[in-house]
Amino acid sequence: MQSASAQSASTAACLTELRGRDLLSSADLSSEQTSALLALASAVKQGQVRLDLSGKVLGLIFLKASTRTRVSFSVAMGRLGGQVIDLDPSVTQVGRGEPIADTARVLSRFVDGLAIRTFAQAEVEDYAHWASVPVINALTDLEHPCQALADYLTLQEVFGELPGLTLSYVGDGNNVAHSLMLCGALLGVNVRVGCPPGFAPDDGICKRAQSLAASRGATVEVLHDPVAAVRGAHALYTDVWASMGQEEEKETRQQAFAGWCLNEDLLAEADPRAIVLHCLPAYRGLEISAGVIEGSASRVFDQAENRLHAQQALLAALLGGV
Ligand code: CP
Ligand code: NVA
Repeated sequence: MQSASAQSASTAACLTELRGRDLLSSADLSSEQTSALLALASAVKQGQVRLDLSGKVLGLIFLKASTRTRVSFSVAMGRLGGQVIDLDPSVTQVGRGEPIADTARVLSRFVDGLAIRTFAQAEVEDYAHWASVPVINALTDLEHPCQALADYLTLQEVFGELPGLTLSYVGDGNNVAHSLMLCGALLGVNVRVGCPPGFAPDDGICKRAQSLAASRGATVEVLHDPVAAVRGAHALYTDVWASMGQEEEKETRQQAFAGWCLNEDLLAEADPRAIVLHCLPAYRGLEISAGVIEGSASRVFDQAENRLHAQQALLAALLGGV
């Protein structure tokens, strides 16, 4: 066990290492860096530290809709004394198809960081390759690493220590599930993904998460039985069955996911102290029942608020405000 001052020195060192770096995947961070970001986010939330990004500008390039991510990044930059510029694809040349190589190099002359929401993970990787400023994945089809930071901050607030807890995600093995698996593995949380056959998370991500988890004494499992997936878990998590870009599959997915609603019966199988999480937006009556999302176990609005605190910590670390 480290002393409090040795712990805070190692937290500070982890945060300094992140200066100038990208966050494209939850696995871009080490266990120590992830824990340090959560510690900083918690301190920011409690008003124990003041971070400063005055004079810094974050560019937002969002090719998909967003409420929480867009607003929390904007407010986070404002609270840190910086500003955001919305590079709306419909009014910039981004939507016209200017090459990423050109856009990224030009924008790097103007802004101090880019938060990008798009479809292919390869696009954020391309931006990161060409940009000389940090690039943050604000959601792709593959991952949602900023969401996972807020999610584990929420779990940490409720249970104190993360290692040894079990988080069960039920539903589609999607971007949110992928980042929860990787980030949870780094934090020593056991992650179970329960999904119908055919909707499992990406195999490469599963293997990566399993190997990261093993080095922290944790496990990552994929199960095809909802009750087995949630039994005894400390957090139950779900997300939409059809993500942005999968609108045409909405109806076939609703049939495939019958029996996978996170409802009161499923919640009764979890640990009695279990909390319920959802990244939002949610469809009540599909992936989650109205009673569960509005019930006493639900922490979904604390979780949404934590996007703001986690991203202040992240921005300060990457853009040099710690
Ligand atoms: N959870 C999340 O990323 O929400 P938005 O799509 O509203 O940003
Ligand atoms: N999986 C969802 C998350 C939305 C925040 C999607 O990609 O649409």
